[in-house]
Amino acid sequence: MIYTLDKIAPKDYEGNIVFLYGDETAERTLPLSKKEAAMVKERREESREFLLVFDRLPYHLYFLSFDSEKPAAEVQEGLRRNAMKLIKRFETDRVSEVAVCGAGTLPEEVAALLEGLSLADYSFDRYKSKDPYHLQKVAVDAAYFKKDELEAMQRLWNRIYWCREWVNLPVQDLNAPAFADELASIAADLDGVKCTVMDKRQIESLRMGGLLAVNRGSVDEPRFVVLEYDGVESGKRKEESGPICLVGKGIMYDTGGLNIKPGDYMQEMKSDMAGAATMASVLFAAADNHLPVHLVALLPLTDSRPGFNAYAADDILTMYDGTTVEVVNTDAEGRLILADAIAYAVKNYNPRVIIDAATLTGAAVRAISTFGIAAMEQNGRKEIEMLKLVGEQVYERLVEFPMWKEYDELIKSDYADLRNSGNTPQAGTITAGKFLAHFAKEVPYVHLDIAGVAYFTKAQHCWRPGASGYGVRLLYAYLQMQ
Ligand code: BES
Ligand code: ZN
Ligand code: ZN
Repeated sequence: MIYTLDKIAPKDYEGNIVFLYGDETAERTLPLSKKEAAMVKERREESREFLLVFDRLPYHLYFLSFDSEKPAAEVQEGLRRNAMKLIKRFETDRVSEVAVCGAGTLPEEVAALLEGLSLADYSFDRYKSKDPYHLQKVAVDAAYFKKDELEAMQRLWNRIYWCREWVNLPVQDLNAPAFADELASIAADLDGVKCTVMDKRQIESLRMGGLLAVNRGSVDEPRFVVLEYDGVESGKRKEESGPICLVGKGIMYDTGGLNIKPGDYMQEMKSDMAGAATMASVLFAAADNHLPVHLVALLPLTDSRPGFNAYAADDILTMYDGTTVEVVNTDAEGRLILADAIAYAVKNYNPRVIIDAATLTGAAVRAISTFGIAAMEQNGRKEIEMLKLVGEQVYERLVEFPMWKEYDELIKSDYADLRNSGNTPQAGTITAGKFLAHFAKEVPYVHLDIAGVAYFTKAQHCWRPGASGYGVRLLYAYLQMQ
């Protein structure tokens, strides 16, 4: 989709218009007949929220009325969701170019609609023989943004597009080495981003026992990718504060391993690298837009398969930091690769905070469905509060789960320091978070379990079925607040 800025006078504009109607000042700017205006007024009296489409053949006027008096976050999310309705109408009306303008509408409201259009227009098309419908061009009323503001937003949306594309790609076309190559080639073209890709031999010499164990049943090599972006001028840096470390679960495919996923539970497990895709996308977006932050993304990548030499339940692993882990269930593989990455961050980067994103537990989906992120913290009160706050603003929300010390007992092993799955089926999301927190030691740590939101089986809000990119806007907004 191409966005441009344009002076748009709705009365004489020759083309399709999306008109955001925030208040009555619109009546003066709009090309409505008396009857139409009366109809709009009547509708507004019933409810402030509606979409009316006026045929101005060969063009259309999409008249989107919203309630600007609601809380800002709710208004903006409403506009994002309405963008999906609009995209569907555009498709039936065969509209591929629109202009966006409005009255009684704030720039952030227009931005929310544009963001919604970008999210709603996305579909995974690569394997379709025929090109599906897409909105091609959006001209935005220049009254709302400066050129660089619109461009910065677009760069973020473009990163979300690529995040979704990676997550949607099946493992046959995106395995760990291929994903690492892709990340390295993007980093090479981006100012201020360094990329280090460690192969199996290097991972062996680092003794990342978790990542190596999960990889043992696979024919594809693992990779450990470290991306670094430093947008802080050296003079400004406070001595004691290291980077923000972003750790992402990169299970390119989760078969469950020898504890193989039964029935159709395996379906959609190509999305088990969404955490890694999210963190890489956030770092790239921060670099695109020169955010003044210092970031390190740590991405352990492998698929998990029950192949020839696959790791087994009862195996006892020695992790990067020396912690021993009894494997109870090979399907609890994400925490094994993440543990190594978190420990690596602690040992090598003096992080200000470690945040991870992971499609970690089915229990998170059962607890809160597909409407938010299950979040936990250890020494990270300030950070999680900030994330909750921006999460409400961008409507990628967090709900916090407890980290009471009682849960520690559930992941103690009789034969090793920890077990990789709790000794009860209860509180599976929390025991997973507790397991990871062990490796963060004293470093402020926030865990984001995105299992419910990374990939939608059914269309929801402004997303078609498939990868959502959920979390990229959240973390980007968090970085903007630094
Ligand atoms: N990748 C899955 C979690 C998952 C499930 C993500 C459904 C998205 C949708 C994870 O590796 C897993 O299999 N977790 C197990 C843990 C259990 C064996 C302790 C689970 O949630 O059942
Ligand atoms: Zn699993
Ligand atoms: Zn998994």
